[in-house]
Amino acid sequence: MKKILFFTCAILLSIAGKAQTTVSHPSDDVKPRAISLACANVVFSQPGIRFMHKIRATNPDAAIAVEGLPRGLSWNQQRSLVEGIVEQEGEYHYTVKLTLDGETTLETITLTVSSTLQQPLPFMGWLSWNVVEGDISEQVVKTVADAMVSSGLAAAGYNYLCIDDLWHAAEREAGTNKPLFDTKKFPNGMNAVSDYVHSKGLKFGIYSDGGTHTCAGCFGSYGYEEIDARQYAEWGVDLLKYDYCNAPTDLQTCRKRYKAMGDALKNSGRNILFYMCEWGVREPWKWGAETGATCWRCTYDARDGWKGKNGGVGILQSIEGMKDLWPYSGVNRFNDADMLCIGIHGTGKSSSDLVEGSPGMTQTEYRTQFSLWCMWSSPLSLSFDLRKPISADDLAMMTNREMIALDQDPMGQQAEFIGETDGIQIYAKDLENGDVAIAVLNLNDAERVVKVDFSDIPALDATTTYHLRDLWAGESVGRHTGSYTVSVASHETKVYRFSKCW
Ligand code: GAL
Repeated sequence: MKKILFFTCAILLSIAGKAQTTVSHPSDDVKPRAISLACANVVFSQPGIRFMHKIRATNPDAAIAVEGLPRGLSWNQQRSLVEGIVEQEGEYHYTVKLTLDGETTLETITLTVSSTLQQPLPFMGWLSWNVVEGDISEQVVKTVADAMVSSGLAAAGYNYLCIDDLWHAAEREAGTNKPLFDTKKFPNGMNAVSDYVHSKGLKFGIYSDGGTHTCAGCFGSYGYEEIDARQYAEWGVDLLKYDYCNAPTDLQTCRKRYKAMGDALKNSGRNILFYMCEWGVREPWKWGAETGATCWRCTYDARDGWKGKNGGVGILQSIEGMKDLWPYSGVNRFNDADMLCIGIHGTGKSSSDLVEGSPGMTQTEYRTQFSLWCMWSSPLSLSFDLRKPISADDLAMMTNREMIALDQDPMGQQAEFIGETDGIQIYAKDLENGDVAIAVLNLNDAERVVKVDFSDIPALDATTTYHLRDLWAGESVGRHTGSYTVSVASHETKVYRFSKCW
């Protein structure tokens, strides 16, 4: 019998917001304000669907008040959040009053309520980079499109097929400067490729860069944004991943370049989802929405390992990059943790670099990756080799309906990082129907028994009885009041859906 180390963790948790570090807001004027928002100030909602906006300040001691809320929304002082349902489409504004040491700062929030938001839920799909890199071709796209459908991945929600870098010809078209594809890789043209993808009921994504060249050295879009966006529209593109290699590093230029492409996409005549990839270097969660982007990478490339080395991003570094960004995520504005490595098993290309030990993870660790991405409402982009058969266990993991439902929850909340004690992390995600998802992650090298105290989690009530469902086991674990004690294996994440018992 497996030896279980009984160890009860008293989880000392900070109250919501206390964990936030002091950051300055990018839209501040030259003179930094004493206090400002540490949460999204451009937010989105769909008519008739519950909305939530957690308000945080750069200083956790600030008193927060909210005024001028549109009909349907109310201010929850205890949890410091705005919530409710707005029925009418439109653009609304409300004011957040931050007071510290007798000084008050007013911040305006812009809320767009629309039934035609570009990315109401984080996109799901497959990206070519991790296993295909420069071998991308019409043939690869067709094989992958077929596999996405026949495997059941498309039916589970993975419906964007995206080609990454290295689809390009050596040069733009002489005279017109239009972007050209490599005709050896795409002998029948890009429209034949996108038509095929669309014929399978999937959407088609492409890649470019806001610099002179892409990261792999092909021509970039800088200075050619309008031409490129129009061409992508003609090619039937539905998503643009926009990288930032070979470009000036300062924030102002970066914002300008993303805005230039965001505007060009809006003028392109086609609804193209704009996915920023400047790796979180300039905190795009604070300004990305203003460029027209609806999701942004928050870390360097996620590698196929638990722990990255020499700057590589393993699961541990993804957690560092993502865990405190929850006040900035929401409907139509998602923090992206990069491609999932599930199913790669160390056989990828650059995904195998910069990891400690040999690349690849255990199934428990891959499940932790999936759990976190779903808790964070990150876009879910698979990147394993779909030209080869998928194992039943991998497929079950990536198509776990109840986990995907967390990622795709219509309220779009990234789970709050509640805290870490003795290598145990707890996350809590508010869900649209009033349920709460709780994840318990064990970073230790040995099993732990953890007591989750409901009074430590702002989204839960200590006196309410909840029905708990273990989403990985796919079964109920009964009704609980006050606390729940669970055994978590090394590197495992247990995920529960809490529903109030009436
Ligand atoms: C990186 C990016 C990767 C991949 C690669 C292509 O900057 O983070 O996801 O797109 O460029 O060259």
